[in-house]
Amino acid sequence: RTVYVNGEYLPEEEAKVSIFDRGFLMADGVYEVTSVLDGKLVDFEGHAKRLERSLGELEMKAPCTTGELLEIHRELVARNGIEEGMIYLQITRGSPGDRDFVFPDPETTAPTIVLFTQNKPGLADNPVAKQGISVISIEDIRWGRRDIKTVQLLYPSMGKMMAKKAGADDAWLVEDGKVTEGTSNNAYIVKGGKIITRALSNDILHGITRAAVLRFAREAQMEVEERSFSIEEAQGADEAFFTSASAFVMPVVKIDGAEVGTGKPGPVAARLREIYLDESR
Ligand code: PDD
Repeated sequence: RTVYVNGEYLPEEEAKVSIFDRGFLMADGVYEVTSVLDGKLVDFEGHAKRLERSLGELEMKAPCTTGELLEIHRELVARNGIEEGMIYLQITRGSPGDRDFVFPDPETTAPTIVLFTQNKPGLADNPVAKQGISVISIEDIRWGRRDIKTVQLLYPSMGKMMAKKAGADDAWLVEDGKVTEGTSNNAYIVKGGKIITRALSNDILHGITRAAVLRFAREAQMEVEERSFSIEEAQGADEAFFTSASAFVMPVVKIDGAEVGTGKPGPVAARLREIYLDESR
């Protein structure tokens, strides 16, 4: 696999980042995951805008323009012959050459930028989407700026492990009795045909897939309500699902052991997945 690091395309074995990199020492960095369908980037503009916002919130400077970023994405997808999969981008505050809590001077310490592709043939036709997945609920103890897409992914990673140990696939995070989001996705329920998902705030990541799916839903005259919901309400809903760039629209059929609706993926999630994949190709 060819990867990109700080201006160079290299075989992955040759790509190097300093041990003093603040991404490594302090999780001081942001990232984006963009899906690739039929060799094309899905929603690159949305990801680039969110990246710019994440960088701004952390007072970090972009190492290149959006146009250059698009070029790098396209080049890497082409070099690795990716038809279906993902491309991962990470920008950290760079390596000041020592460990210090104080941010280094951006004039002397350049950010580190890394991109790599993940080949996932069959991503769009994922058979799991026909069965749906199960989630457990866990307390959301992450920090208060979940709207910034930082590389601090230890708790989401632990949440996924808790789910696996409990025989489930993933976890939904709960704060003050309400679901915030999934470990790496946005959460939804469907009740009486209405699509319900938490409103945007600093409590959740502003999903690019979420924005697209809600737009397509409204265009298709489906009703959307942006509000919080509890695990109990989700268990009693007709359907549940989540969205992310890596899974598109994924039905959730079991929550904390209780079947949602019929226990099978519902028509609303199936339709949204189809519309999303059609529109993204
Ligand atoms: N995760 N919420 C969280 C906490 C996420 O990490 C993600 C994305 C989303 C969905 O956002 P989007 O639709 O823009 O992918 C919501 C990526 C895919 C990841 O960490 O792999």
